Amino acid sequence: MPLIIPIMLKGKKILITGGTGSLGQALTKRLLDLDVDTVRIFSRNENKQIEMESKLHDDRLRFFIGDVRDFNRLTRALEDIDIVFHAAALKHVPKIEYNPFEAIKTNVIGSQNVIDACLHENIEKAVCVGTDKAVSPLNTYGATKLLMEKLFVTASNYLRKDRHRTKFIALRYGNVLGSSGSVIPKFIEKIKAKEKIPITDLHMTRFSITMDEALDFIIKSTIAANGSEIFVPKLHAYSLDDVKQALIELFGDVKDEVIGIRSGEKLHEILINADELRYTWEWQNNYVILKSEEFANEKYYPNIIKTKFSDSYSSNNVEKISKNELKKIISSEFLLKKSS
Ligand SMILES: NC(=O)c1ccc[n+]([C@@H]2O[C@H](COP(=O)([O-])OP(=O)(O)OC[C@H]3O[C@@H](n4cnc5c(N)ncnc54)[C@H](OP(=O)(O)O)[C@@H]3O)[C@@H](O)[C@H]2O)c1
Repeated sequence: MPLIIPIMLKGKKILITGGTGSLGQALTKRLLDLDVDTVRIFSRNENKQIEMESKLHDDRLRFFIGDVRDFNRLTRALEDIDIVFHAAALKHVPKIEYNPFEAIKTNVIGSQNVIDACLHENIEKAVCVGTDKAVSPLNTYGATKLLMEKLFVTASNYLRKDRHRTKFIALRYGNVLGSSGSVIPKFIEKIKAKEKIPITDLHMTRFSITMDEALDFIIKSTIAANGSEIFVPKLHAYSLDDVKQALIELFGDVKDEVIGIRSGEKLHEILINADELRYTWEWQNNYVILKSEEFANEKYYPNIIKTKFSDSYSSNNVEKISKNELKKIISSEFLLKKSS
């Protein structure tokens, strides 16, 4: 990582909504390593906060109980903060299909509250964490995250030049290997319990990013952001068949059952759809979707170029992670780490 990045975050006061989640905890550790002044965690469950507090022990860490549905609490939590990472969300597709009203309250109204509170407190940068499921969404989760993204990239409409400085930014990426509820740890649990692993469709593909790669991407995009853009990393993808084969080679006896694609699931995910390509540029191993061509210049993004992608950026048409690479990743992320 270039040296300039830690320097730009040094001394900053940061709040993470959903700071006790998989991403929130990893991001907290990374930010503390970068010499920030404060990391304030904002989430609902006190037990998760107590557990995190006892793991991290750091005077710069503060824990606020609160719900993103509660604007007043958010405003209080954001006092004196420089940068907000908005990671709080309901994210489990089947749960959300069953409880869609709740997802709207948390993922959409909650995001609106975060934006309003950022404007109220005149935060420097507000970054929301989005997902490939928001692109041409098939399920309610994706639709709510699409609205979150739209609210963030258009939030600048509410900026008053004499009063506000906030830059609102959206990030979009694919499955984080090993995050809560993700497929590989779930499969490993099943294998260890000598149960069958549930296979939706062996042809299914998914974009993949490790937690470290996600953190690099989040921090780099936050530093570079000029406001109202969507950053998307260049990612590889894996097929479910290769995951299954890699697990067989690592664990030996793996039994599976085909359960079929579930309601709201896609066979392949898309990170940038064909219509968005018109506004998509390549910048430093990332894509950036800009609201207008006028921002696609060297002043804002050095060495920016128009993307040459002509079809949607889908997990089906990017380079695949080979079975052997998957074996290496699974070993280092899930097996070696756990036994060390
Ligand atoms: N994991 C992935 O593969 C992936 C990929 C792309 C994007 N994302 C996005 O990245 C973000 C973080 O994902 P994650 O995997 O870290 O999720 P996670 O482990 O489920 O964490 C979610 C966090 O949000 C908090 N939260 C939920 N509802 C809340 C509310 N109403 N008010 C305040 N806090 C609330 C949870 O704590 P409490 O329950 O205690 O409130 C928890 O801290 C999400 O926005 C997700 O959509 C994830």
